[in-house]
Amino acid sequence: MKTILILIVGICFVSGADRSLFKTCGQSSFCRRCRNVSGPSNYVFVQGTLAVDKNSATVEIQNTQNFHIFTLKISGLMDNTFRVEMDEKSPLSPRFRVTEALQQEPILENIDVTISDSEIIIRSKMNRAVITKSPLKIDFYRNDVHALTFNGNGLLRFEELRTKPAVLDPSEDPDSWEETFMDEVDSKPRGPEAVAVDFYFPESEVLFGIPEHCDSFALRTTLGDEPYRLYTLDVTGYEIDSRMPIYGAIPVLYGHGAGQTTGVFWHNSADTFVDVHDKKTVHFISETGIIDVFVLLGPSPKETFIQYTKLTGVTNLPQLHNLAYHQSRWNYMTQQEVIEVVDNFDLVDIPLDTVWLDIEYTNGKRYFTWDKSTFPQPLEMMQNLTDLGRYLTFIIDPHVFVDEDYSFYAQNRARGYYIKNSDGSDYQGVCWPGMSSYVDYFNPEARRFYADQYLLENFAENSVTTGIWNDMNEPTVFDVPEKTIPRDAVHFNGWEHRNLHSLYAHMQTKGTYDGMMRRSNGELRPFILTRAFFSGTQRYSAVWTGDNTDTWEYLEASIKMCLSISVAGISFCGSDVGGFFGDPEEELFVRWYQAAAFQPFFRSHANFDSPRREPYLLEGDSLAAVRDAIKIRYAMLPFWYTMFYEHERFGHPVMTPMLTNYPHDTRVFNLDNQYMLSDVLLVRPVTSKNATEVEVRFPPVDGITELWYDVTNYNKIENMAGGTNFYEVDRFKYPVFQRGGTIMPRKETERKSSMLMVDDPISLFVALDRNNEATGTLYIDDEKSFNYHHGEYLYLRFTFSDNSLSSHHIDDHAHFESSNKLARVCIADLNPRPLSATYTNARNETRELDVSYPDDVLYLVIETTDISLNDEWTIKLNYESGAKQNIICGGLLIFVLVLQFGKHLLN
Ligand code: NOJ
Repeated sequence: MKTILILIVGICFVSGADRSLFKTCGQSSFCRRCRNVSGPSNYVFVQGTLAVDKNSATVEIQNTQNFHIFTLKISGLMDNTFRVEMDEKSPLSPRFRVTEALQQEPILENIDVTISDSEIIIRSKMNRAVITKSPLKIDFYRNDVHALTFNGNGLLRFEELRTKPAVLDPSEDPDSWEETFMDEVDSKPRGPEAVAVDFYFPESEVLFGIPEHCDSFALRTTLGDEPYRLYTLDVTGYEIDSRMPIYGAIPVLYGHGAGQTTGVFWHNSADTFVDVHDKKTVHFISETGIIDVFVLLGPSPKETFIQYTKLTGVTNLPQLHNLAYHQSRWNYMTQQEVIEVVDNFDLVDIPLDTVWLDIEYTNGKRYFTWDKSTFPQPLEMMQNLTDLGRYLTFIIDPHVFVDEDYSFYAQNRARGYYIKNSDGSDYQGVCWPGMSSYVDYFNPEARRFYADQYLLENFAENSVTTGIWNDMNEPTVFDVPEKTIPRDAVHFNGWEHRNLHSLYAHMQTKGTYDGMMRRSNGELRPFILTRAFFSGTQRYSAVWTGDNTDTWEYLEASIKMCLSISVAGISFCGSDVGGFFGDPEEELFVRWYQAAAFQPFFRSHANFDSPRREPYLLEGDSLAAVRDAIKIRYAMLPFWYTMFYEHERFGHPVMTPMLTNYPHDTRVFNLDNQYMLSDVLLVRPVTSKNATEVEVRFPPVDGITELWYDVTNYNKIENMAGGTNFYEVDRFKYPVFQRGGTIMPRKETERKSSMLMVDDPISLFVALDRNNEATGTLYIDDEKSFNYHHGEYLYLRFTFSDNSLSSHHIDDHAHFESSNKLARVCIADLNPRPLSATYTNARNETRELDVSYPDDVLYLVIETTDISLNDEWTIKLNYESGAKQNIICGGLLIFVLVLQFGKHLLN
């Protein structure tokens, strides 16, 4: 009965999360224990124990209350980063260390150490860490700027492993050795083992990070309230403005002030609560593990974000079509229906790249099988899609139906690949198929076996081009408290689930990625979408914000959530357009499309009981507005692709908060209803009903605002009082502005899908700054393979200055024979107006180009039809004495001279 009830709650959510299913800090013994700590700290470093090597200093730490000894190691790392590792010197048994989040062992930096009676100073390049003996604290300086203090408030608590005493100390928290939540007993065989410490960011005026929460981008104080919690959980109907944990958990937190941004990466995958005391102080509390912290010293926001991705990796450039529009719902029920959906898009002239299949395509939720009654010929369906220039993505969840006749289940069971109960039997819990077991992806052999399932030899009704959707991988178990695997379940090498819970999905996506790589013999870039994630998941997968709802608040939340996720390393983020639950009113639905067209992952999805809502079902103005939004996304695909290439190459976020580009404008620190794409576009989606205008912040730089241009018509935005502008919007308007000083590539030929746009020409949109200058980049390759890792690409820099636009190859060693030509160059607000333009390439070939000023737009157009992007070239604007005129004038002059000379001869 209980099972059925929870299943129903899981599927048919109406409004709000059932909070009672999920633990609060007060209901978690470890959180209570650590939250009760107050300073001054009772830890000191032990004189005479310092050991130093080239890159690190290690000193013993003592808890002065029970004399337990720990080691504290500080390492200097490349890129203004320190690592602090604190563990027990001789633990009863090894404590869990996260190993899968980092992309590789961090690169070390040389250090230099000095010691006095009261402190140890560790210098690394221009930075230093100063350990104060008693009470213990560590201050970090970037140059001479005090950037962070570890344990400044004395909240450090490191619970040493102990054998269970025969009689419990009455002063101890009563649930320290065993804990019950909603009738489920957590046996805690290792007893209490929490770790916690506070961090103080002296320069900070805003704290942000630690996704995933459905909350503001800036963290709010939690004193007297629930802390933010990081624990990957399936919270059906998650609420707005909530610090409850949801699907993802990334323990990186940033403090930003005008002169200094500092990051703290709390490298721990256990249940974690984060208290925010004020704009400068936080308190991290984890159930198990060690203290392992990366201190990112910035100093700018962008540098700090890059320091984090240097550690945890970036997203490989996606295949271009994954940046286009995706259509999903739970479920397209038959293979005919899939093709009908595509046909209907074509009928109303809306581009589409990928159709998604949810769980109903399978035979009874047995993944790696098809329901043959509804999808009798999956390969034929995939071929039909390819013929239409489209792709397919289907879902593979981590629960495996307990059914001996299902060979994937039986083989995993026989090989011992499932997560175990503490008694060694296979763990079982309820999910979509019914009673299920869960593959232990931490076991390399189990992960490999799972990955093998993607190979065509094992799953023939699959194709090398399909994308994969890993859902329910928090992992979700319907019939237990917190809807997930119990903490005392056991993984590979005997580690309890409590240590690594939030890494589970990460390990699944690692396996999926491996399977997809091998499926195409390493040729095609895998596309995976995951619901749960941890630090580093960006290396394998895109994410979306899960089961949102059809209200304006959730549209707003999609921006805040993706901003937090982006600065935590995962740039490929989006939300279910329209809201997963419900039936969005038409105005909201249109606005959601207009917003999502400017978010990295662009997919419409809906619950099984939501009325059908493919955009072709819209009519009139709404249909036109959605068509317009999807088409602008397609036109800008070269820009998106270039941004994702630059994310892979440099490590900064694609979608980024305003403070990344304007770190000194205090008015943008808390702003989370507008953002930037790279440093080129400012996006301010309309997120309220009946809006007639939106407030946009155009941050001043040195007291002056830059020039900005509306990307729909290149109207220049001027006269902003102090940088704030109220911009008029009608139903069709998506307020997006190109920054003066930038050049953006587009493909303007309208097609049904991105596959059909491969050879289309590029247009450049030049937005000049106050000095009449601009720069931009364009990246081109085969749009799908890894050949770009072997130099097969073009990476171009465009520069406009002195009335000339030029194109140069950024990497001389790179080469790609691009079929794309330059269609036209559009230059906004150019004064004075040139009369013509002259093209010259590196081989000194030259020709004249026509310029025009179309009535309906606010830019000059240079028609450039046959210019190859493979060449380096310059286009020079000609004014009164333009080249054409020169030739004509020169001719006239000779004619007059000849006449005069003839006259003279005659005389
Ligand atoms: C939960 C996911 O969040 C949702 O997007 C999906 O449709 C359902 N599971 C069914 O697979």
